[in-house]
Amino acid sequence: MIDVKSIREDFPILKARPYGKDLIYLDNAATTQKPLSVIKSIDDYYTGMNANVYRSAHYLSGVATNAYEKARNKVAEFINAGSEETIIFTRNTTESINLVAYAWAMENINKGDEIILTVAEHHSNMLPWQLIAEKKGAKLRYVYLNEDSRLDMDSYRNMLSSRVKLVALQQVSNVLGIINPVREMTEEAHKVGAKVLVDGAQSVPHMKVDVRDIGCDFFAFSGHKMLGPMGIGVLYIKKDLLDEVPAFMRGGEMIDEVYEDRATFADPPLKYEAGTPNVEGAIGLAAAIDYLDGIGMDNIHKAEVDLTEYALKKLKEIDFVKIYGPLDMKDRMGVISFNAADIHPHDVATILDQDGVAIRSGHHCAQPLMRYLKVTATCRASFYIYNTHEEVDEFVESLKGIRKWFK
Ligand SMILES: Cc1ncc(COP(=O)(O)O)c(C=O)c1O
Repeated sequence: MIDVKSIREDFPILKARPYGKDLIYLDNAATTQKPLSVIKSIDDYYTGMNANVYRSAHYLSGVATNAYEKARNKVAEFINAGSEETIIFTRNTTESINLVAYAWAMENINKGDEIILTVAEHHSNMLPWQLIAEKKGAKLRYVYLNEDSRLDMDSYRNMLSSRVKLVALQQVSNVLGIINPVREMTEEAHKVGAKVLVDGAQSVPHMKVDVRDIGCDFFAFSGHKMLGPMGIGVLYIKKDLLDEVPAFMRGGEMIDEVYEDRATFADPPLKYEAGTPNVEGAIGLAAAIDYLDGIGMDNIHKAEVDLTEYALKKLKEIDFVKIYGPLDMKDRMGVISFNAADIHPHDVATILDQDGVAIRSGHHCAQPLMRYLKVTATCRASFYIYNTHEEVDEFVESLKGIRKWFK
């Protein structure tokens, strides 16, 4: 198991005292806090390395370029991408998915083609495909959920046909915490010739992810949900596909030769990274990966499963709490969505906030899922490596106090 007490020492923000209370930060699915090593890596970059990358022959530019490329290498190893040319730095998961939509899908998806999504997708993995469907005359098809809140795999299998050109789905749901069988689903999609995009925003921070084992064609995630800085994200494109995915944005840095009327482009991944990149973000992300590796992703996963199981047990004991998503820990991660009687989730979150407990309330950028669950919003508690069983106890006690607000 992990040493949470010593981990907490690495996160200065956890000493914050909202309204004079201890901070209990349970909004990790939205963004995680940053350890000192990540904060320091950004400081080190600006105090000792700052220069534009790739462009200049001087010493500092070389140092910054090396650090940026080392970060790419680290990301490639972290998700077992096989080679660094498959790793493209973007701003976040949203930009990674849009890159695939604008660059690959605009060229490869046509009238009558089908795109399979799940009803639980984050808007980031839904709206880009709505755009493609609208512009190209393609059809969106949705996989819904079984009674146990997990994907209806029979309906998924029935949807697969040669018309399907893309399956785009999350590995872990940011609302229900379910882990989808992306490896199996990729294998089945490939049998009908479809490409697969996996949204790993909620998986990469919490479990060991091996993109080549999954076998997917595209994989997207964000640095800020895994201890890294905001404004840095990753898109993995399977090596065999790099020739088929044209450049997305055009401009500096991504070219080979430019004439007045045309240009040729750099090799991947630079061909997808137009303009000055987020160098400090990449360096900060590399420091975050070092931190996670230092604990071990399997240990992180186990600790989170243990804490979530404990929280589920406690929440199930409160008679006015309704939990959305599986009540057991089979294929489930540390996100718990719930409602408290008929009190609006924003009110619940505001009341908990008075006790220093930070949760999220709202539609979680998953309005179709909210409609499917027949709610307008939920409360969401989400855990990470620095959360403790005592914090869960305090969160649950604070939630129990809501009873006094009942009419
Ligand atoms: C499953 C999932 N996909 C995509 C995103 C979008 O991430 P970002 O805002 O970093 O682009 C999120 C963020 O909450 C998410 O949870």
